[in-house]
Amino acid sequence: MSQTRVHNFALSLDGFATGEPQSLEAPFGHAGHRLHEWFFATRQFSADGAHGIDDAFAQRWAPGIGAEIMGANKFGPPGWQDDLGWRGWWGERPPFGTPVFVLTHRPRPPLELDGTTFHFLSASPDEVLAAARDAGGGLDVRIGGGPSVVRDFLLADLIDHLHVVQVPILLGRGVRLWDGLEGLEERFAVEATTSPSGVTHLVFNRKVHGG
Ligand SMILES: NC(=O)c1ccc[n+]([C@@H]2O[C@H](COP(=O)([O-])OP(=O)(O)OC[C@H]3O[C@@H](n4cnc5c(N)ncnc54)[C@H](OP(=O)(O)O)[C@@H]3O)[C@@H](O)[C@H]2O)c1
Repeated sequence: MSQTRVHNFALSLDGFATGEPQSLEAPFGHAGHRLHEWFFATRQFSADGAHGIDDAFAQRWAPGIGAEIMGANKFGPPGWQDDLGWRGWWGERPPFGTPVFVLTHRPRPPLELDGTTFHFLSASPDEVLAAARDAGGGLDVRIGGGPSVVRDFLLADLIDHLHVVQVPILLGRGVRLWDGLEGLEERFAVEATTSPSGVTHLVFNRKVHGG
């Protein structure tokens, strides 16, 4: 059965997945790169990177994934919908290597790049998940963020596996993941692994699939 998974989702101690304001120059706003320094040090990110706990978690991002779903604010900075030439942050060979479904209230025709085709649609979480499963040949679907989209999928109880990386910084402002999700832990078996890098990997596995 195809699972719905979130990987390498970095959160500050106060629950923010991005700072503010988001812009072309600063995709994570005032957070800069601080949420992802643990990831930049891994082998998954670069051939010079280290093996170890962080890398072991980071490597789980791709295997078994047939498609990704992301929000409009992950795909581009505010206003990208007005720029028909915007092709995402990732260059001509994006790292996804699968179909990617971008949720937006201003859909446009599909964008085919090397190994990755972006599809733009306005749809409910259930509907986009069905489309992504279909396009991904029944493999697992990754919810790539940002926090608003991950939160919507958690609220709809559509996430089977959630990997959060708690980074020991306080951002104070930005977009939070956990708002409105009181008691979420009751639906999941939760495990924590601390890493020498200072981050804590929290894994939430849904207790009853399809429940
Ligand atoms: N910490 C991490 O690991 C991590 C991971 C991924 C991304 N990020 C960061 O998170 C930030 C983006 O997160 P975010 O919460 O601001 O936004 P987001 O989740 O990327 O996107 C939210 C937007 O997607 C569109 N959308 C969502 N659901 C929709 C639906 N059902 N139908 C149609 N459109 C829908 C809406 O945009 P419109 O109304 O404009 O169409 C909505 O405002 C960026 O800074 C990104 O870099 C962080």
